[in-house]
Amino acid sequence: MHLTREQIAAFDHDGYLFFPGHFSTAEIALLHAEVPALYARREAYNVREKGSDAVRTNFAAHMVSAPFARLARHPRMVKPVEDLLGEKLYMHQFKINGKMAFEGDVWQWHQDYGTWKNDDLMPTERAMNIAVFLDDVNEFNGPLMFIPGSHKRGVIEAGHDLTTTSYPLWTIDNALISQLVERAGGKNGGIVSPKGPAGSMIVFHSCLVHASTSNLSPWNRVSVYLSLCAVSNHIRRFKRPEYIAHRQFDAIECLGDDCLLAQPPVALPWGKGMPGSALETSPDPIQ
Ligand code: SIN
Ligand code: MN
Repeated sequence: MHLTREQIAAFDHDGYLFFPGHFSTAEIALLHAEVPALYARREAYNVREKGSDAVRTNFAAHMVSAPFARLARHPRMVKPVEDLLGEKLYMHQFKINGKMAFEGDVWQWHQDYGTWKNDDLMPTERAMNIAVFLDDVNEFNGPLMFIPGSHKRGVIEAGHDLTTTSYPLWTIDNALISQLVERAGGKNGGIVSPKGPAGSMIVFHSCLVHASTSNLSPWNRVSVYLSLCAVSNHIRRFKRPEYIAHRQFDAIECLGDDCLLAQPPVALPWGKGMPGSALETSPDPIQ
C-alpha cells in the first residue's frame, strides 16, 4: 500500500493522516484477544496507572506475541511510512496503551520527538508514530488530540514531567499550547481528534503536538502505538531500558498483506522471557 501525492501533501500540511477502518474486524479481533494475557503479566514492561492496577501502557508486545510481531511487519502499516521518510525503517518503540474504562489517565501535551531527542539522542525527527485502534474511539473515551500543522515548529522546548501521571514525559507548557492552538485556527480546527472504528490507523509526525484526556466512559480505548525510525537515524544512547527504546536497528522486512489472518511463523526474541540486558541502561552515548 503506497500513498498518493495528495496524501503526502496533506501529511506535510497537517502532520498526520487518518485511515478509518484500515484493518478488518477479523484482523483486529486476533490482536485484541492477546491483550488481557499481556496486561496480566507482572513485568516491568507493563506500566500501570497511578494508584491503580489498570495498565497504562504495555511495551514490546511484538517481542513476545505472534499477532503483534506480525502487526510490527505489516505492509499496510510500514509502507506508508517508508513512502513518507524515503528510507527503510526499524522499530524504535512498540506500545499498547490501555486508556481503560473509568481508569485511563491523561497524556499531557507533548511531542514524541522531544523524548526521543532528550532521552535517546535520536539525531533528527526522521521517525514516525502510528496508532492502530483496537477499540472503537469516540469523543468520550479519551481520543488522541492533535494541533494540526504544529510539526512545522520543529522541536519545542519541553519540561520533564515526572509527577502528573505514572509515566515520565517531556511536556509543553499551557501558554505555548494556547498560542499553537490559536495559530492553527483556534475554535475552528485548532485542535482535531480523529475518531473511528476499531481497525482505524493514524500516521503522525514525531513533532506533531498531541495529548489525550482521561477516559471516564465505560468503554476501553486500547490502541497500539508503533514508532518507526529511519535506520540511518537510530538512537545514539541507551539511557532508557531496551523494552522502551529498542536497540536493534535492522530494517523491517514486511510480511504479506494477509499476514494477520494467514498467521505465518514469526520470530519472538523474548518469547521465553525478557533478558536481563533489556533492563540495563547507560548515561553515555554509544560508540
Ligand atoms: C502517546 O502520546 O504516546 C499516547 C497518547 C494516548 O494514548 O492517548
Ligand atoms: Mn506521544
